Amino acid sequence: MFTRRYASVIIFLAILLALYYLPVSRDTLRQRPWANKPVYKPIVCCGPRGSLLSNSSDDQVIPIDLKIPYPVAPFGSHDELSLSQTWMTADIKYGPYGYGDEREDYNRKKVDWEHVDWGRLQDDCAAQNQDRFGAVANVSSRGRMVPNPGFVWPRPEKATGRTAIVLRGYDTYNYAPEDLLNIRSLIVEAGLSTSGNYAVYLLVHIREKEHEIYMSEANYTAALEKFVPVELRSIAVLFDETLLENWYPKTATHHPNFQIYQPLQLFAYYYPEYDHFWQLELDVRFTGHTAHYLDALNTFARKQPRKQSIERSSYLYIPSIHGTYANFTSLIDATLNGGGVWGAVNIPDVEPVGPKPTGSSQEDDFSWGVGEDADLIATNPCSNVTWTEDWVYRDWIHNFQNGVDTPRIFCAPAITRTSYRLLAAAHDAQADKGLTIPSEATVSSFALWHGLKIVFPPQPMYQNPLRDLKEMDIFFNGGPPNASRGAMAKGDGFYNARPHYDITNTATWWWSSPFPAYIFRNWLDPKENEELPFILHKDAEGRIWAPNLALHPVKTN
Ligand SMILES: *[C@@H]1O[C@H](CO)[C@@H](O)[C@H](O)[C@H]1NC(C)=O
Ligand SMILES: *[C@@H]1O[C@H](CO)[C@@H](O)[C@H](O)[C@H]1NC(C)=O
Ligand SMILES: *[C@@H]1O[C@H](CO)[C@@H](O)[C@H](O)[C@H]1NC(C)=O
Ligand SMILES: *[C@@H]1O[C@H](CO)[C@@H](O)[C@H](O)[C@H]1NC(C)=O
Ligand SMILES: *[C@@H]1O[C@H](CO)[C@@H](O)[C@H](O)[C@H]1NC(C)=O
Ligand SMILES: *[C@@H]1O[C@H](CO)[C@@H](O)[C@H](O)[C@H]1NC(C)=O
Repeated sequence: MFTRRYASVIIFLAILLALYYLPVSRDTLRQRPWANKPVYKPIVCCGPRGSLLSNSSDDQVIPIDLKIPYPVAPFGSHDELSLSQTWMTADIKYGPYGYGDEREDYNRKKVDWEHVDWGRLQDDCAAQNQDRFGAVANVSSRGRMVPNPGFVWPRPEKATGRTAIVLRGYDTYNYAPEDLLNIRSLIVEAGLSTSGNYAVYLLVHIREKEHEIYMSEANYTAALEKFVPVELRSIAVLFDETLLENWYPKTATHHPNFQIYQPLQLFAYYYPEYDHFWQLELDVRFTGHTAHYLDALNTFARKQPRKQSIERSSYLYIPSIHGTYANFTSLIDATLNGGGVWGAVNIPDVEPVGPKPTGSSQEDDFSWGVGEDADLIATNPCSNVTWTEDWVYRDWIHNFQNGVDTPRIFCAPAITRTSYRLLAAAHDAQADKGLTIPSEATVSSFALWHGLKIVFPPQPMYQNPLRDLKEMDIFFNGGPPNASRGAMAKGDGFYNARPHYDITNTATWWWSSPFPAYIFRNWLDPKENEELPFILHKDAEGRIWAPNLALHPVKTN
């Protein structure tokens, strides 16, 4: 009896196997929709030395594992972000881009940087990889942002997998050698070495309208030649406020201090072939490999569930206080009893474009939104505008039906990655209704009202001098997640910041901290008589190594 039963099991398995191997059944398998999409391998691109990057060690930036203790970031976490604990010297990082090329011992092929056509290199790279992306936007087809042509630009139908990095410049910006090293590193590491997953642009604000850049091609070119160094002209896109006034006649102002996203919204409108747009200021530095860093933020954000993502994003994550990120997630969940912001926060002025949740927050097991790209990646925690005590823009809101009672959140600084659909939603609302709130609140609040995914990934951040972390948790977060205080974190660091600049101005990522520049200067150009910042490592040969992180601000102007 037993043998008969076994025999039937074996015959059954044999039939399954036969079915699997029959040509007809395998064809059926292949036709399954998820098996349909061809997989294109990235095609290696050419670097500034005229060689394929894979074949040119002079162009390569390779982080090193020194196998020495790594400086532990008190805020954020390399591990949680899957960011490697590697090191680089200034020569490894910037040598490929000309750092040290005035010295006898520069051991790379020298480049005539003025004659590198970065727009062309990026365009060729994208064109070669076009199968993978579907549609490519050419960097060097400039002058496309023009006053409202009176028709609606076509919205993209599908994702391309590409991200634009939009660097924000202005007319009289004085591009120091260090700025050029930084911009080259962004183009090569993020753009070319990923075979075009990113493309770098320089969006230049022409502050004096007298240049009349929209009057004629010749005017535009004259301004380009006057204000943008030769090397950067092929990646530059110029605008002046005429453009913003023309597109957004109803908004209360067009000044970039209040409306830093308007030019980016229009950029997205004119370059709809990108899924996402990183807005970077020229004073941001990546001490590791740029693409590894940006990819890590993207991957972390994509894996995050939507449930309580806004509340988690309001905290500065402190591993020694919160445990692992999973522990931290459970803590927030316990505080909120499974609740929190769930789908769009409705306001009368906006019809949400984001997906509607099914069921309640309590019913969701942290799976909604997992695997979905974030619409907004913030680089600092997001705060509740209505709770701020000394934020100068707190009550600055125009053309909303409920005025200052409109729920808003802000994430400063305005260094973010935003999705096309988020920028398009802000664009429509500003163009049609003139809905106006300050820069730092714009994309975060539109994401809130539209039910779009917001994530603040735990970027590693250091502080000098390091303070007691329990105190810092109270200072930034208002202490551990705690039901009586409400949903979002609430500490003086963000809500009553002005009296405490002495504390906030000690971080490696803050809008006004001198620590980043101090690290960066000592990395590139150490002074004998200056003490090395504690996160840098000097080896036996006197070389200075920096850990893998993002610094802001490192000003040259
Ligand atoms: C790689 O570089 C070597 C030496 O410069 C050259 O001979 C070779 O043709 C290059 N290969 C490719 C595929 O470009
Ligand atoms: C974009 O750039 C590629 C490569 O440089 C070129 O082949 C293509 O014709 C350009 N397309 C447009 C629309 O300018
Ligand atoms: C802009 O173009 C117009 C018309 O071609 C010309 O008259 C004017 O002088 C130009 N302005 C500048 C600042 O170049
Ligand atoms: C973090 O979570 C793990 C697994 O659930 C648990 O063992 C550990 O005690 C938690 N740590 C903290 C600090 O809560
Ligand atoms: C929550 O935090 C506030 C502010 O730190 C504190 O006053 C309150 O006692 C805390 N409540 C609980 C239940 O821990
Ligand atoms: C922001 O604060 C207001 C007023 O206290 C509150 O109603 C709202 O729920 C808070 N928003 C979030 C997302 O916590």
